[in-house]
Amino acid sequence: MKIKVKSLEETKKLAKAFANSLSKEGLFVTLTGDIGAGKTQFVRYIIEFLGVQEKVTSPSFVILNEYNSKLCPIYHFDLYRLEQKGLKSIVSELREYSKTGMLTFIEWAEFAFDEIPHDSLKINVMYDENDVDIRIFEFSAQNEETKKFLDKFNHEVHK
Ligand SMILES: Nc1ncnc2c1ncn2[C@@H]1O[C@H](COP(=O)(O)OP(=O)(O)OP(=O)(O)O)[C@@H](O)[C@H]1O
Ligand SMILES: [Mg+2]
Repeated sequence: MKIKVKSLEETKKLAKAFANSLSKEGLFVTLTGDIGAGKTQFVRYIIEFLGVQEKVTSPSFVILNEYNSKLCPIYHFDLYRLEQKGLKSIVSELREYSKTGMLTFIEWAEFAFDEIPHDSLKINVMYDENDVDIRIFEFSAQNEETKKFLDKFNHEVHK
């Protein structure tokens, strides 16, 4: 599922559809793609739509941000600032965050793809090669649960 986004406003709309598709079962989401393409912004909007009041900051200076929402606990990892050594020390911990009943986002998942569960909902965010104002969000699902989510999300997006 591929969606072209032309502005922050459109990113926000997409995030709303994503948030509306989630359930209390949560979801394990990995984000990859171009530098500065809009991964953090997208996650930030989703967290806001889930009713989190506290300011949603970029986790770039910390590895993990944690939020409580009415739906379920939310964890937002950013692996960009982790060096190899640091990465190894949290990889086993990452698996813990793929359990049902929590919503986990892992930004810069390419740094740990060998180690994290493969059945995540994958989001790849890229710049359009002809227009830097256009960002392309590509969503892919590997298992029943994430496919079901994508169906619902697809429906929300086109509502
Ligand atoms: N769809 C969009 N249209 C225009 N500007 C955007 C869009 N999405 C994000 N931006 C802007 O681009 C900048 C980078 O966004 P963001 O930090 O979300 O990207 P990122 O992919 O998380 O970056 P990094 O690779 O550093 O983690 C921000 O200033 C943000 O406001
Ligand atoms: Mg980011």
